[in-house]
Amino acid sequence: MLWLFLILPVISVTSRSLKVYDKPTPTAISDRLIELVTQGAFRGVTYYRLAALADTIGPRLCGNESLTQAVDWVRNVMISEGLENVHVEQVEIPHWIRGEERARLIQPRYAKLSMLGLGNSVGTGPNGIQAPVLVVRSFDELTARCAEARNKIVVFNPQCDWISQPLACYGPVVAYRSGGASHAAKCGALASLSRSAASHSIDSPHTGMMTYDPAYPKIPAASLSVEHADMLDRFQQRNQSIEIYLYMEAQTLPNVIGYNLVAEIKGSSLPNETVLVSGHLDSWDVGQGAMDDGGGAMISWTVLSLLHSLNIRAKRTIRCVLWSCEEFGGIGADQYFTAHENEVPSMSIVMESDLGVFHPYGLQFKGTNESQKIIQTISQQLRSINATQVVPNGEGTDIGPWLERGVPGASLFNDNRNYFAYHHSKGDTVNVLNSTDIDLAAAVWAVYAYAIADLDNLLPR
Ligand SMILES: *[C@@H]1O[C@H](CO)[C@@H](O)[C@H](O)[C@H]1NC(C)=O
Ligand SMILES: *[C@@H]1O[C@H](CO)[C@@H](O)[C@H](O)[C@H]1NC(C)=O
Ligand SMILES: *[C@@H]1O[C@H](CO)[C@@H](O)[C@H](O)[C@H]1NC(C)=O
Ligand SMILES: *[C@@H]1O[C@H](CO)[C@@H](O)[C@H](O)[C@H]1NC(C)=O
Ligand SMILES: *[C@@H]1O[C@H](CO)[C@@H](O)[C@H](O)[C@H]1NC(C)=O
Ligand SMILES: *[C@@H]1O[C@H](CO)[C@@H](O)[C@H](O)[C@H]1NC(C)=O
Ligand SMILES: [Zn+2]
Repeated sequence: MLWLFLILPVISVTSRSLKVYDKPTPTAISDRLIELVTQGAFRGVTYYRLAALADTIGPRLCGNESLTQAVDWVRNVMISEGLENVHVEQVEIPHWIRGEERARLIQPRYAKLSMLGLGNSVGTGPNGIQAPVLVVRSFDELTARCAEARNKIVVFNPQCDWISQPLACYGPVVAYRSGGASHAAKCGALASLSRSAASHSIDSPHTGMMTYDPAYPKIPAASLSVEHADMLDRFQQRNQSIEIYLYMEAQTLPNVIGYNLVAEIKGSSLPNETVLVSGHLDSWDVGQGAMDDGGGAMISWTVLSLLHSLNIRAKRTIRCVLWSCEEFGGIGADQYFTAHENEVPSMSIVMESDLGVFHPYGLQFKGTNESQKIIQTISQQLRSINATQVVPNGEGTDIGPWLERGVPGASLFNDNRNYFAYHHSKGDTVNVLNSTDIDLAAAVWAVYAYAIADLDNLLPR
């Protein structure tokens, strides 16, 4: 029912007078796409849709009814705007719930700690866990002090130079978020707290997924704000004894049905071959899931809206897929790949925008040198908006299985230096995005999708 409230304003925006152009040249088509989304009837529409979704439905945790509401809303707008083959494909997804949660510093003073339970974590039980704390900065340090960790709450406080290398820091720091609990449990710890994987912090904790090694007991796992992780570290350096009370109701319920949402513009002469554009519709349950990954999902939808409103069809089919449950490990996308594996030979490229839709510089691309040359040529069609850069690292969680099979992949190259300031936190709201930049991002996405779909051949692999 929720979509009924939303559909009217969106349709009124998208149906402003739209021109139709006859048989333009490839460059002319790119120019039309860029013009339509930066100056024409689609200017601001992607941001409008994103804000309507993020404000009205809010965050869309895997397994929560809000994710299904988001799928219904987008699907209904897609159908009413006239996109082709709009449908959902069922997948089985996990259903983790956070419940109530809190952490309190008991010693050396009483204070509320800024925490967020991690996805997949177990709860503490009704009495919570009160225990002394051991702070470590690395797995090596924990191994060296393993005996000290017994019956304690282990706090992981990994250090990294986030300012100069935000993307390079994420992986190494996330290793503690995802694997810290089992490392701590191996040493007999009672719970695990980890420093947020964040580049900046205003005492806001950042959540994310964790996993358990089945060899060790499952202990509760949560993130702490950067500030509180550092404070605990300083207590320990001063030899002050630290005690924390942790209470978490988190639990994993039985799996539920989720939906990957699909829409297409069928190819004119090679409808059996495909260019896939995508983002994930699910998010964490804090903030609004606007940046991660409402923006990526919305620009992928906009690609189809632009082509449809210009009445332009590439040789190949352009398919938009909005993935379900990326945040728990590309769950919906993995099942999509299994169901569509027969399309590996006919998939020209898989594109996923999941690293922000800030001011775009161009494309991150993963493929052979020969296909990279083709991408370089296409990049010149983005000169008017100065988004011609082509750089490596076109990977993405949801497109991973395709890339492993040799299908070229791409991601949006954008000014995402602040991505990890907002990521998985209450700060991931519509406010961090900019309508003008989202339009430019959508232009980059649409120009590449169309140009690749209209090449004489599939991208070489
Ligand atoms: C969905 O999330 C809301 C808000 O956190 C919560 O109240 C509700 O119980 C959740 N529903 C499910 C099915 O997990
Ligand atoms: C903390 O204790 C250790 C080991 O007893 C000692 O070497 C160190 O100097 C102490 N640090 C402070 C700040 O008191
Ligand atoms: C798609 O169909 C065309 C014409 O029917 C054929 O030539 C082409 O090989 C097909 N593509 C793939 C990847 O099978
Ligand atoms: C074009 O973008 C590059 C970054 O990709 C930037 O360094 C340059 O200043 C931009 N040029 C203009 C004219 O905006
Ligand atoms: C691809 O290009 C890179 C950089 O130009 C070069 O180092 C590499 O050898 C090339 N790979 C192949 C397989 O030609
Ligand atoms: C959005 O970005 C544009 C272009 O960079 C800039 O002119 C504008 O002021 C920004 N808008 C907001 C609200 O920050
Ligand atoms: Zn994401």
